[in-house]
Amino acid sequence: MLKGHAPCVVWFTGLPAAGKSTIANLVEERLHALGLHTCLLDGDNIRHGLNADLGFTQADRVENVRRVAEVARLMVDAGLVVLVAFISPFRAERRFARGLVAPNEFCEVFVDVPLDVAEARDPKGLYAKARRGALPNFTGIDSPYERPEHPEVSIESHRVTPEDAAQRVIAQLQRMDVARSKSLMRASKSDSSSPREGPEG
Ligand SMILES: Nc1ncnc2c1ncn2[C@@H]1O[C@H](COP(=O)(O)OP(=O)(O)OP(=O)(O)O)[C@@H](O)[C@H]1O
Ligand SMILES: [Mg+2]
Repeated sequence: MLKGHAPCVVWFTGLPAAGKSTIANLVEERLHALGLHTCLLDGDNIRHGLNADLGFTQADRVENVRRVAEVARLMVDAGLVVLVAFISPFRAERRFARGLVAPNEFCEVFVDVPLDVAEARDPKGLYAKARRGALPNFTGIDSPYERPEHPEVSIESHRVTPEDAAQRVIAQLQRMDVARSKSLMRASKSDSSSPREGPEG
């Protein structure tokens, strides 16, 4: 436990404009307030840098997710809570990401929204572009999105506010013993009967 708290990957998946980045940013703010060390890997930023050589073919999308999953694993080794906000449309690649870390170190957050709601939001105008045929292989339009079967958290972002959604993720991280404040951690360490002294600590 390098940073005074357990590390974890919090993996946000969902359609374009589902609300992954919005919710992930709020979760990160709250984790900071609790004194946790985080890193946010957002699909857009990663595509400008680390994955600037990749496009949107099926093979490139798989490689896009493979690289970020490997980076997330390295950051978990460094003790961080890693927030990944990636469409990551394929089950197999999310399973791959999960398999790189320990079972209690992966929290899949499905940001679930009907396609018509996401398309009506369209904050980047990408659905409109895809409908015009100017953006081939766009998830939800002409490339599939495979819904998670057993996500740790499922959020219907058309039914809850971003703030409530973020709180649900924090609650799950607390259940997984990740998001506890440092002062709480210190208190439990000095208590020899604390479960934190067990193998998961
Ligand atoms: N409950 C909600 N949770 C999250 N976003 C919401 C919610 N209600 C409305 N929105 C709006 O939906 C949009 C979601 O955009 P956001 O960039 O977060 O999506 P995304 O899933 O990261 O998309 P992309 O895959 O294109 O990066 C924003 O304009 C946000 O304000
Ligand atoms: Mg985003």
